[in-house]
Amino acid sequence: MASTLPLAIVTGGARGIGRGIAERFARDSFEVIVLDRDGDAAAKAATEIGASARAAGLDLLDREGIAAFVERERPVSALVNNAGIFDERGFFDLSIEDFRRMYDVNLIALFALSQATARRMERGAKIVNIASRAFLGARNHAHYVASKAAVVGLTRAMAMELAAKGILVNAVAPGLIDTPLLHALTPERMAAQLALQPTGKAGRPQDIANAVSFLANPAMDFITGQVLLVDGGKSLGGGMGI
Ligand SMILES: NC(=O)c1ccc[n+]([C@@H]2O[C@H](COP(=O)([O-])OP(=O)(O)OC[C@H]3O[C@@H](n4cnc5c(N)ncnc54)[C@H](O)[C@@H]3O)[C@@H](O)[C@H]2O)c1
Repeated sequence: MASTLPLAIVTGGARGIGRGIAERFARDSFEVIVLDRDGDAAAKAATEIGASARAAGLDLLDREGIAAFVERERPVSALVNNAGIFDERGFFDLSIEDFRRMYDVNLIALFALSQATARRMERGAKIVNIASRAFLGARNHAHYVASKAAVVGLTRAMAMELAAKGILVNAVAPGLIDTPLLHALTPERMAAQLALQPTGKAGRPQDIANAVSFLANPAMDFITGQVLLVDGGKSLGGGMGI
């Protein structure tokens, strides 16, 4: 039987932060679609999450596949644009192709899915974009930093235009979160990252899910265009003394 629960989509929901958000949405009484380019992992995650979850094996770079998927579904109450890629490369080693690949997934796919989904959203719907604390600046991944700063700008622009349709749009900017994405960091870089954390530890996917749950809650009605840093205090700066 078709679900009557409000519908949520979590992109990149098969693992890491997205998986944590999908689990939380199931507990928050959403029907949740775990969308991921790894269809098998998405199916496994949906089965483990339970009856209110189902999987969509889709690559967000497949524009036609995404358009057909959005048309097939009922209106979405909460869209979480979480899927993203990351790699480490010094400024002088970056190619135009590295930049394009990063922007294609982290920014343009997010825009395209948001546009298609928002066309059919009803008043009170929410969009939450997963940016990164890195939008403030970071070494060795200028293409990632720029893509996430662009996500922040897009979030603010979407919030202004979609307010007229009663859709609220916010971003969550995670700091260091323990997921497979961090496998791109060498052990030395990981240790250096942890040393910058006032709280001395990496966060967990649940820490991000808590923030997303708050921003996607049907009762939340007056916050839009904001960026919530969930980073264990890293954005406060690591300076000691004056
Ligand atoms: N882990 C961190 O420390 C951290 C920090 C800041 C921001 N973030 C952001 O949080 C989000 C999730 O990160 P994570 O650590 O869980 O990453 P992850 O690599 O563990 O998971 C990302 C998921 O997205 C999926 N995905 C990637 N490209 C896709 C595409 N084109 N179409 C469909 N699915 C795709 C992957 O298959 C994977 O399941 C990303 O946007 C990332 O930039 C993570």
